[in-house]
Amino acid sequence: MPRIAYVNGRYVAHADAVVHIEDRGYQFADGVYEVCEVARGFIVDMPRHLGRLNRSLRELSIGWPVTPDVLPIILREVVRRNHVTDGLVYLQVTRGVASRDFVFPAGTKPSLVVTARKADPTAAGRRAESGIKVITVPENRWDRVDIKSVGLLPNVLAKQKAKEAGAQEAWFVDADGTVKEGGSSNAWIITRDGVLVTRPAEHGILRGITRTTLFDVAAKLGLKIEERGFSVAEAKAAREVFISSATTIAMPVVAIDGVLVANGHPGSITLSLRQAFFGVAEKSPA
Ligand SMILES: Cc1ncc(COP(=O)(O)O)c(C=O)c1O
Repeated sequence: MPRIAYVNGRYVAHADAVVHIEDRGYQFADGVYEVCEVARGFIVDMPRHLGRLNRSLRELSIGWPVTPDVLPIILREVVRRNHVTDGLVYLQVTRGVASRDFVFPAGTKPSLVVTARKADPTAAGRRAESGIKVITVPENRWDRVDIKSVGLLPNVLAKQKAKEAGAQEAWFVDADGTVKEGGSSNAWIITRDGVLVTRPAEHGILRGITRTTLFDVAAKLGLKIEERGFSVAEAKAAREVFISSATTIAMPVVAIDGVLVANGHPGSITLSLRQAFFGVAEKSPA
């Protein structure tokens, strides 16, 4: 079954899907993106993802490539045409195609690309049963990581370093030792008293949609959340540690820089958050 991509108004074979060499996404990383999980035939938290897309576009003065009511239709259509029941749908909007010049071009239409991909939900479940390892790296990203920009080179390098160290995620850490977030996830710890701790999202991290929905999940489970920074040392000594993102949900972390968290096994609170997530998240039929 050939994969299908949406590119600027057309559904095309994935293998033939192209954008122009002068697309500003290609030349300047002048664009933004979103990733929604697809689970059991539903697009998870789509309105929240499109709300964040709207904010990212506004912050960069990029226009909507299609009207906001049309985008969900395109997402659904790409999921449907690719027969994705479990996996993800990816969308990218750039400022468009223009002769290479730093300043915003006048009258350029933003480019829109949408792709979808299958994933094996049992593989994610197995990963959650064993947990993942993270390493820490110094924060070296720009100041506007609250915008979901396609400029991800520091994240690429950090995650490659994690892979070479036998880990699955890298945490960016401030000069004062506080944890910011992962290369593609938010970071959480659970204290000895069972309180969830995650850094405030007003500045310095991406406000993860999964993070936001986990606030709702925690409320449902009667768990307390503290929004505050935490250090690498506090994380290493925590009762549980986990990361969150659309594709990992709440994923237990069992080691940080080679130091085991608790007994080196996924924590029960993290697993209960993971279990309850789908019942709380908003599900739009694909
Ligand atoms: C840097 C970063 N932080 C956090 C997240 C988690 O965001 P979400 O839960 O919306 O997937 C991501 C997701 O890709 C990310 O790239």
